[in-house]
Amino acid sequence: MSGRFQLFRQSLRQAQQAPSLARNASTAASQSAFTRATTSTRTAVALSLLSGGTFAWYSSLYGNPLLPEVKAESAADHGLHAPEYPWAHKGPFETFDHAAIRRGYQVYREVCSTCHSLDRVAWRNLVGVSHGVSEAKTMAEEVEYQDGPDAEGQMFQRPGKLSDYFPRPYDNEEAARAGNAGALPPDLSLITKARHGGADYVYALLTGYVDPPPGVEIREGLNYNPYFPGGAIGMARVLYDGLVEFEDGTPATTSQMAKDVTTFLAWASEPELDQRKKMGMQASIILTGLLAMSIWVKKFKWAGIKSRKLVYNPPSVKH
Ligand code: HEC
Repeated sequence: MSGRFQLFRQSLRQAQQAPSLARNASTAASQSAFTRATTSTRTAVALSLLSGGTFAWYSSLYGNPLLPEVKAESAADHGLHAPEYPWAHKGPFETFDHAAIRRGYQVYREVCSTCHSLDRVAWRNLVGVSHGVSEAKTMAEEVEYQDGPDAEGQMFQRPGKLSDYFPRPYDNEEAARAGNAGALPPDLSLITKARHGGADYVYALLTGYVDPPPGVEIREGLNYNPYFPGGAIGMARVLYDGLVEFEDGTPATTSQMAKDVTTFLAWASEPELDQRKKMGMQASIILTGLLAMSIWVKKFKWAGIKSRKLVYNPPSVKH
């Protein structure tokens, strides 16, 4: 028995040595081939051509990367990238700051709504989010809506209802352009989803108006804003300190109003955010429980199979 065991150990050692020897030999061979390849003139020329060609191809497409000023596209074409702001609703466990939505609605109503529509938001959407039912009803009733036709076939005006959508400042696109020197104020319902940078972009845009840098000419009627692609925007700066008066006593600074109206617009774009995060959390908890249970059931069902021992007893052969 021990003799056989020794034999086995020997062969095992041999077997272990064999591949390592072979490996050493092959590394030596490939090393020399590699050295030969890297030191050859042909390789040097080929690699130079390849890198030179790549550079030329890249430069022809995008401009010379070593000379940024001759690039085909500049940062100004895309607009300055908006910084990331710590929105109250940003994290996976965070919900909208509803007091900010309420203040933001006020800023939208008093400032932005003179030019921008908010087609996808109805008065009823505010209920339970930023306003109570009676408040929302009163606000809706202050607006006249056309309805009809009545029994005589006439259209008539009536006060707004909760089911009415926010009124538009202009009847059509042409009127909107005519009122804004040719620029169309976009509908703001989905603006934080429609722009790169989302809420960060809208906030940066509203607070980003500065004098144009030397050498930049802005056409009459346009305004300089580095965050707007191209730098020249049809909308002038609209927010100034103290422009509105918040009922909760929050000081109405430019940045406060911009933050609140952006939160309001983020809510308008994604009203389901609070609910979605809550459901996501519930689903994660339930699915984690189900996963743990299924792991346990699997272990239980496989226990017999995993722990059994198969023994083969060869029939004894008589010599
Ligand atoms: C006097 C009219 C006017 C007012 C008031 C106004 N805007 Fe604008 N806004 C415009 C016009 C015009 C444009 C289109 C600009 C362009 O395309 O050059 C615009 C564009 C925008 C854009 C889109 C920029 C882009 O990337 O295309 C946003 C966002 C915006 N406004 C937000 C607001 C907010 C928020 C308010 C309220 C605080 C507001 N605006 C108030 C006229 C106005």
